[in-house]
Amino acid sequence: MAIELQVNGKTQSVDTSPQTPLLYALRNDCDINSAKYGCGQGQCGACTVIINGNAVRSCITEISTVQGNVTTLENYKNDPVLSALNRAFIAEQAAQCGFCISGMMMSAKVLLDKNRNPTDDTIRKALNGNLCRCGTHTRILRAIRVAAKELQA
Ligand code: FES
Repeated sequence: MAIELQVNGKTQSVDTSPQTPLLYALRNDCDINSAKYGCGQGQCGACTVIINGNAVRSCITEISTVQGNVTTLENYKNDPVLSALNRAFIAEQAAQCGFCISGMMMSAKVLLDKNRNPTDDTIRKALNGNLCRCGTHTRILRAIRVAAKELQA
């Protein structure tokens, strides 16, 4: 069945079943590589995308339930918050293996869209559902603070 998806402002038609996880459609049919398959159970955050301003676990979101534009990291050049996060994550060398980073940046964008001056505690809470096995949390935290500062200026 053909299902229409709006991804980073572009309408795409995906031929799949309504129960297909959004993550599969993004990766297999929409040329999206940033959202990753980690746990497949909504517990690690590697697959996080943004729909209507909310961080959404695309691995447990059925494609037929998606309403609104899906934002992924591929859209960073068109989004000042994602651009700032991208620069800051590189400057602070916040990735080790990098598998979790797109999901981290999606959650960070949702936070910074609402709050340009978050405390460390607020950042930790916003990213609580995003796991990093490499342990670069300190650098990730620093990168988000740097991006927030840039966005305040
Ligand atoms: Fe979706 Fe882990 S892959 S939360």
